[in-house]
Amino acid sequence: MHIVSAEYIISAVGPKQYPDDNQPEIAFAGRSNVGKSSLINRLVNRKALARTSGSPGKTRLLNFYHINKSFYFVDLPGYGFAKVSKDVKAEWGKMIEGYLQNRENLGAVIQLIDIRHAPSNEDREMFNWLKHFGRPTILALTKADKIPRGKWQKHARIIIESLEPDLETPLVVFSAETGLGKDELWEAIGDYL
Ligand code: GTP
Ligand code: MG
Repeated sequence: MHIVSAEYIISAVGPKQYPDDNQPEIAFAGRSNVGKSSLINRLVNRKALARTSGSPGKTRLLNFYHINKSFYFVDLPGYGFAKVSKDVKAEWGKMIEGYLQNRENLGAVIQLIDIRHAPSNEDREMFNWLKHFGRPTILALTKADKIPRGKWQKHARIIIESLEPDLETPLVVFSAETGLGKDELWEAIGDYL
């Protein structure tokens, strides 16, 4: 994908603030700190379009980015972030689920899983939840630069055995650090734009 423009549009708390021009959207879901914002930056070749942070809980609202003025990336707050109160967690849950369940122009969800670790219960819940609502999902196994190439397959297998994705679910080994998997991920995204 040739990126001509990538612009931050809005941090939304609810549907009233979502863009209303009916262009397709791709959303990014995953545990806090898994690398959602970094992955977005890598995909669009911008260092700091989406804010990233070493400490979890950086993205707290639904951040919309307009790409090539023709579709949107939606950076979602991470789940599994321990350091917020129950009330705040419940509110995030509602915000994220409301978006993922009801948004008509949402084309696909990229769910990020840290390739180093077996999926958490929350990862599995999210994956099954998306399946239940019929949302096409692309799995990005990220931070691949943190383990040797020779171990990717073994780690991928553990994740596949845990999530049991359908054969048509694309699975991409990715690194925001090195750019590994970028073209493959764009190809998978292209099917939903
Ligand atoms: P929240 O907004 O808190 O939910 O986090 P996030 O999922 O957006 O994570 P973010 O992109 O902010 O990245 C978290 C940390 O992981 C940062 O320190 C990144 O530099 C690092 N990181 C993200 N992706 C990669 C990767 O592929 N490789 C390596 N080595 N580090 C990464
Ligand atoms: Mg983030």
